[in-house]
Amino acid sequence: QSTCTGVNERTFLAIKPDGVQRHLIGEIIRHFEKKGFKLVGMKLMQASEDLLKEHYIALCDRPFYSHLVEYMRSGPIAAMVWQGLDVVKMARTMIGETNPADSRPGTIRGDFCIEVSKNVIHGSDSIESARREISLWFHTDKLTCWAESTEHWIY
Ligand code: TYD
Repeated sequence: QSTCTGVNERTFLAIKPDGVQRHLIGEIIRHFEKKGFKLVGMKLMQASEDLLKEHYIALCDRPFYSHLVEYMRSGPIAAMVWQGLDVVKMARTMIGETNPADSRPGTIRGDFCIEVSKNVIHGSDSIESARREISLWFHTDKLTCWAESTEHWIY
């Protein structure tokens, strides 16, 4: 099962081509790590047109749809699955509003971008979307399910 509830809840996050090209991968990952969420899947990939059209299928009637798919194809995407309590909703809060102009400082879109059409990061908007998107982007049996080691790493 790709998305569970409670501490095993999972969401799909993707750093879009503008975020990758602006060298924001590390900073964005750090943000979610510091919050306390767990990275359970990650790959840097050039998404196909078919995948992107399917990913954004709910927006296919919107005027910006084809431009959105083109932009998402314009370079590699860092696709990730993150896990933790209430991660779907909290990641959306951390990301900010769709339009960076409406996003508060301290959110990713509020701090790192200006235009709605280049808003740096995607995050699933519901548990249902997360389940659909994770299975679209990842072979769910390849996701990890790790726990902190009992070894002492710090001396
Ligand atoms: P949407 O799913 O509504 O927003 P979100 O990413 O916050 O869940 O829209 C998907 C993406 O489409 C959005 O991140 C940026 C792009 N977009 C535009 O380019 N123009 C627009 O007017 C809107 C609403 C979205």
